Amino acid sequence: MERISDVPESAGRPARANDYDSFAEAYSAENENNLLNAYYERPAMLALAGDVAGRRILDAGCGSGPLSAALRDRGAEVTGIDGSAGMLELARRRLGDEAALHLVDLRDRLPFDDGTFDDAVASLVLHYLQDWGPTLAELRRVLRPGGRLIASLDHPFGAYVYRDPRPDYFATTSYTQDWELGGRSVPMRFWRKPLHAMTDAFTAAGFRISAISEPQPDPAARELFPDDFHDLMTKTCFVFFVVEVPPTAASPEV
Ligand SMILES: C[S@@+](CC[C@H](N)C(=O)[O-])C[C@H]1O[C@@H](n2cnc3c(N)ncnc32)[C@H](O)[C@@H]1O
Repeated sequence: MERISDVPESAGRPARANDYDSFAEAYSAENENNLLNAYYERPAMLALAGDVAGRRILDAGCGSGPLSAALRDRGAEVTGIDGSAGMLELARRRLGDEAALHLVDLRDRLPFDDGTFDDAVASLVLHYLQDWGPTLAELRRVLRPGGRLIASLDHPFGAYVYRDPRPDYFATTSYTQDWELGGRSVPMRFWRKPLHAMTDAFTAAGFRISAISEPQPDPAARELFPDDFHDLMTKTCFVFFVVEVPPTAASPEV
C-alpha cells in the first residue's frame, strides 16, 4: 500500500512543476556528453534494450531525443513524446522533420492505439510523477502482449538516504533540488517512492518485473571524470527496471 505524505500543490490536479521549456537548450547541452547521462544512464538503457532492430519503440519523456537517436541508429522505429514543447523542438532538430514526435503529458491518455509498440523506454521521467498508476496503465495499453517497458529513475535509496532532512522512507514524498543550468539556479521538484511502491505500481498496472538493475558507469568515463566516476561506482544513483506485458494476459481489472 502506497502512503503519500506530501502536501499537494493544490486541491485539484497539481500542475507539472518543472518547466523544461525555460531551460531546454541548457539541459540538452549538459545531458549530451556528461557523466550521468552520456556515460551512465543512456548506455545502461541501451544495454537493457539489447537488439532493437525493427522494433517499434515509444520514447516516453524523450526530451531532446538523445536516446531516440541512439535507438534509431540501432534500427528501431522510434516515436517520441514529451510534455515540453521546447524539448520537442530540440528533438525535432536532432531527429529531422520526418520523426514522429508528439506533445503529450504522461499523466494523460496516450494518443496511440492498443498494442502499437514493441517496447517503451522512460528515461529519467517517472520521478516527476506523483501517481504512476494512470501513466503505467497507458504505457501497458499501448504495448503489445510480450512488450517491454524499460525505465530509469532516481534510486530510492539515494533519494531518501542522502538528502536532509531524512523523511519517512515508506512514504511517497516530494522534494525540491536546485539545478544549476545555463548560469541560473532552477528549482526542480521530484517524487520519491520506496522501492516496494515502485514494484507494486508496475505489477498493479499488469506488468511482470523481469529485471531491477543498478548498473555501473561506462569504463570509458574513468579518465574523463575521475572523481565523479569513483563516486558513481560506489554510490546508488539511478535504478533501472525492465518490466513486461505478459504474452497472453488479459487487461488488469481497473
Ligand atoms: C530529465 S529529462 C530526460 C529527457 C530524456 N529522457 C533524456 O534522458 O535525455 C525529463 C523529461 O521528462 C519530461 N517530462 C517531465 N514530466 C512530464 C510529464 N508529466 N509528461 C511528459 N513529459 C514530462 C520533461 O519535459 C523532460 O523532457
